[in-house]
Amino acid sequence: MTTTARRAVCPGSFDPVTCGHLDVISRAASLYDEVVVAVLHNPAKQGTFPVEQRIAFIEDALADLPEDPARGSIRVEPFAGKLLVDVCRDLDAPVVVKGLRGSTDFAYESPMAHMNRHLTGLETLFLPGDPSFEHISSSLVKEVARYGGDVTGLVPDPVRDALVALRAG
Ligand code: PNS
Repeated sequence: MTTTARRAVCPGSFDPVTCGHLDVISRAASLYDEVVVAVLHNPAKQGTFPVEQRIAFIEDALADLPEDPARGSIRVEPFAGKLLVDVCRDLDAPVVVKGLRGSTDFAYESPMAHMNRHLTGLETLFLPGDPSFEHISSSLVKEVARYGGDVTGLVPDPVRDALVALRAG
């Protein structure tokens, strides 16, 4: 008997990954056999960290997740110059999983979800963000760190250290 892996994509710019992202990725992996974390370029945002470093941050943080046999596999891949719907088609993934912190996120995510469904039928599954991570976003964390604020616990420690180093450099 052949079985088909249930595969989902967690897309984002992850510049850098936050504890909120990691929560959504790990919860997505509890729902699917395989999760591909797709690190994509967002044309609306100027990058802070190179894509290779963003991926390394995510992979390091995932390696620190507590063991959970019920969790599907997770891998991280970069994608450039492609629509998310084409990435998902190439990966044979019928769904993307995204976290929603509140109504502002919904207003931002909803048109993309509708557009992706219009283009190829790609579905979007929204997970409610854990309330303890509701105030965390990559951009806010970067702003706080830029002015010397402590972002410990909001991002993995290596990300915090890299943000501190950016400020010093
Ligand atoms: O973490 P972000 O920056 O909110 O992620 C947005 C991202 C990268 C998922 C979105 O910009 C995207 O899907 N980019 C790939 C290009 C694409 O498909 N654009 C049309 C979206 S409807």
